[in-house]
Amino acid sequence: MKILVTGGLGFIGSHTVVELQNEGYEVVIIDDCSNSSEDVLDGIVAITGKKPLFEKLDLKEKDKVVDFFKRHHDIEGVIHFAASKAVGESVEKPLLYYENNIGTLVYILNELSKKAQANFIFSSSCTVYGQADELPITENAPVKTAESPYGNTKQMGEEIIADTCKVTTGLQAISLRYFNPMGAHPSVEIGELPKGVPQNLVPFITQTGIGLRKELSVFGDDYPTPDGTCIRDYIHVVDLAKAHVVALQRLLNRANESNYEVYNLGTGKGSSVLEVINSFEKVSGNKLNYKIVDRRQGDVISAYADTTKANNILGWKAKSTLDEAMKSAWDWEQKIRN
Ligand code: UD1
Repeated sequence: MKILVTGGLGFIGSHTVVELQNEGYEVVIIDDCSNSSEDVLDGIVAITGKKPLFEKLDLKEKDKVVDFFKRHHDIEGVIHFAASKAVGESVEKPLLYYENNIGTLVYILNELSKKAQANFIFSSSCTVYGQADELPITENAPVKTAESPYGNTKQMGEEIIADTCKVTTGLQAISLRYFNPMGAHPSVEIGELPKGVPQNLVPFITQTGIGLRKELSVFGDDYPTPDGTCIRDYIHVVDLAKAHVVALQRLLNRANESNYEVYNLGTGKGSSVLEVINSFEKVSGNKLNYKIVDRRQGDVISAYADTTKANNILGWKAKSTLDEAMKSAWDWEQKIRN
């Protein structure tokens, strides 16, 4: 059974391709390599023994998207990761984000709407909740005004999919709202490869640990949390990848109750920035150089998932602890720098 994975050479995409191939699916990857590299294919082959089909394609080129779906008319499911994800950059270049994240989504949905049956999984984010009023966050928590064009593209993306599903009988979709993905495949054949200075906490920590960055700036220690630093729900990327496979299977088996569903993907456990640093120091045996600086604009105080819905309906639960995820991130950092 053929599954299209857009952005399949990226961080979460590549780990999902591995899980799909391990489950016997035939995978076609589309990626424009704007924030990834074709070398990732070698890692996927090393783990699974199988090379996925790959087409270097920019989804903004509508004609090419139309042509792709004509050539691959036997695609039975699409997992759509391809998107830009730097919050700061999205504030500077909103139109780039709307074109990359919304324009391309519309092109794909357009092609899927032509099919008698289509199954679609969307990469969404806990960013849609903003600072939730209640913790842990359930899927019923209200969607708050987005803090950035990036966040807005996730909210709008979900709405576009929901609207399309309402009027397209053959289309079924699931949006997966990720909390904070981290870590690498235990084989250390694939992992996170941020271009330039990492914006996210964990790659910044491991790059500081390896000596690529002088020190980590901790954005604020005066938040109303036990140690004053922000709390997030850090989930191992392999756990996250496996959730995509079960969500896809739910659609393929027609086990879904509604043709559009939303699930939180997290561990259910919140960790503060200082706890994440402690985890790094524990698993690496190294002291991390860090200093406390001012708060970063747009950061929420605390966000962690209520994962009951994914546990009960998808039968999925994150297995790895923060230390296990951190160990894999550190192993990966050491491997790529040596
Ligand atoms: C951010 C985005 C989120 C997006 C995700 C994509 C914001 C507000 N949210 O999540 O919408 O889906 O990235 O990857 O930007 N931190 C430091 N020092 C650093 C980096 C981070 O102290 O150098 C802290 C942050 O203040 C935060 C935590 O670490 O408390 C996690 O930050 P990060 O990894 O950037 O993720 P989010 O901000 O949660």
